[in-house]
Amino acid sequence: MSGTFSKSMARNVFYGGTAFFVLLFLALSFDTQQALPQRDNRANLTPAVAAGKKIWEVNNCIGCHTLLGEGAYYAPELGNVYKRRGPDFIKVWIKNQPTKVPGRRQMPQFNLTDKQLDDLVEFLKYTSEIDTNNWPPNIEG
Ligand code: HEC
Repeated sequence: MSGTFSKSMARNVFYGGTAFFVLLFLALSFDTQQALPQRDNRANLTPAVAAGKKIWEVNNCIGCHTLLGEGAYYAPELGNVYKRRGPDFIKVWIKNQPTKVPGRRQMPQFNLTDKQLDDLVEFLKYTSEIDTNNWPPNIEG
């Protein structure tokens, strides 16, 4: 064994490494695609959930909140708020904003109808049932 690293060895490492990681990428992508139908809660995507998501977007809730970790860090994570607080709390909470409690961050009043609140709660319920490998790690997060 000579201690030299030839051009052809370098080429083989390059092609071999590239092929290995391309195959690994394809295998993991395939695995993800196989797992998604069981995990993303698509069976429970109803028209009410879709309507709720629209209300979520139109009112830019994500401008202050995170949803499953994505969004702004001004206000609490809402991916699991349905499990944390339940449907009635969420509706009463949204109706009663802003709280004007001194020293607390404020959430605006959106003047949503009862139907819009129901749809929003359906969307948050759907989100809370996505299998996220138990993320966030605690119920307050
Ligand atoms: C301008 C920023 C802002 C926007 C936009 C906003 N929120 Fe909030 N939200 C807050 C803040 C701040 C709190 C926490 C207030 C507190 O704890 O006193 C909060 C709290 C909440 C809570 C209670 C969370 C908990 O853990 O108890 C819910 C539910 C909620 N928001 C839903 C929404 C929805 C739905 C929207 C969109 C329609 C929205 N928020 C838009 C700022 C915002």
